Amino acid sequence: MQFPLSIISSLVTVLTITLQALPIFTLSTCRSFCGNIPIKYPFGIDDGCGAVQFRHMLNCSADLFFITPSGGYKVQSIDYNKKTLTVYDPAMSTCSILQPHHDFIMTDIQSAIMPPSADTVFALLNCSIDSPVLNHYKNLCFNFSGHSCDELYGGCNAFRVFHLLSNSSPPCCFTGYDTVRYMSMNILDCSHYTSIINTDNLKGLGPLDWVYGIKLSYSLPDTGCERCSESGGTCGFDTETQGIMCLCSSSFNATRECGPGSATDEAVTHSSRAYVYSVFLVLGAFLYMIS
Ligand SMILES: *[C@@H]1O[C@H](CO)[C@@H](O)[C@H](O)[C@H]1NC(C)=O
Ligand SMILES: *[C@@H]1O[C@H](CO)[C@@H](O)[C@H](O)[C@H]1NC(C)=O
Ligand SMILES: *[C@@H]1O[C@H](CO)[C@@H](O)[C@H](O)[C@H]1NC(C)=O
Ligand SMILES: *[C@@H]1O[C@H](CO)[C@@H](O)[C@H](O)[C@H]1NC(C)=O
Repeated sequence: MQFPLSIISSLVTVLTITLQALPIFTLSTCRSFCGNIPIKYPFGIDDGCGAVQFRHMLNCSADLFFITPSGGYKVQSIDYNKKTLTVYDPAMSTCSILQPHHDFIMTDIQSAIMPPSADTVFALLNCSIDSPVLNHYKNLCFNFSGHSCDELYGGCNAFRVFHLLSNSSPPCCFTGYDTVRYMSMNILDCSHYTSIINTDNLKGLGPLDWVYGIKLSYSLPDTGCERCSESGGTCGFDTETQGIMCLCSSSFNATRECGPGSATDEAVTHSSRAYVYSVFLVLGAFLYMIS
């Protein structure tokens, strides 16, 4: 019995097409992880994914970054239950490192939909005696969980230098995000700052054990995303019109949900039909071959 080359080659072709037809429908346009950090609604790292209000806020280049007008801040974690995103500014001073201040600036949209949480406290250090927070805006400063600024000057290697140079504690202020939002560090007239998160849990702990960073507390836009995700889609938006979309597969986007009878199902049906068809083709070719 002879196997004509043409039959074998068409067999191979058919098999290749069959194998290629399947994985197309498992491809997604939206990456769901950046490193080991899960990316879910309302966030997105590919344009068109997530909620449009959060567009261009994250970038994933090896690490996940929160992008603001004052720079990219490394995202430490996202808590989707508590709706918080914790970032860390490597250029910020902490208990162990003293670095020149640079303002933390968010866009108006960012300040509105994901402001720093109430338990994120900014510590303004080495303020001049003319600083507004020591004068007219004194009442913006507070003590948190029983801590005073003096603990920072005394308990942190990085901040001890202020103590040494002035032979007393230079003025300092624990304050909320709004203070640094409306007054730049130059206006505040403080040479350094740091920020501390989870301040409600720090009673009795010294500054060496505080957690430094910025915790942002985001709110979910009410766009009916549940309907889309329950139908198996990923919430996104049209990159041109910014209209809400439900991304059902790499070849189909719906406006609200990937419901039955939508093009997704048609596409899948179409692919399985193609699959069955090619199996028959292979079988036919095989029968032809052995006859
Ligand atoms: C679906 O939407 C995504 C995100 O906007 C886009 O990248 C993709 O090209 C769209 N696909 C189709 C088939 O329109
Ligand atoms: C992402 O942000 C980081 C930090 O700002 C920056 O270094 C990097 O170039 C950005 N990557 C892209 C692709 O925009
Ligand atoms: C503290 O602030 C003063 C200005 O008020 C500045 O001259 C001094 O260099 C600052 N100290 C440190 C250690 O940066
Ligand atoms: C904060 O604590 C210090 C020292 O315990 C105290 O002198 C100061 O008055 C307190 N400030 C406020 C605003 O309560």
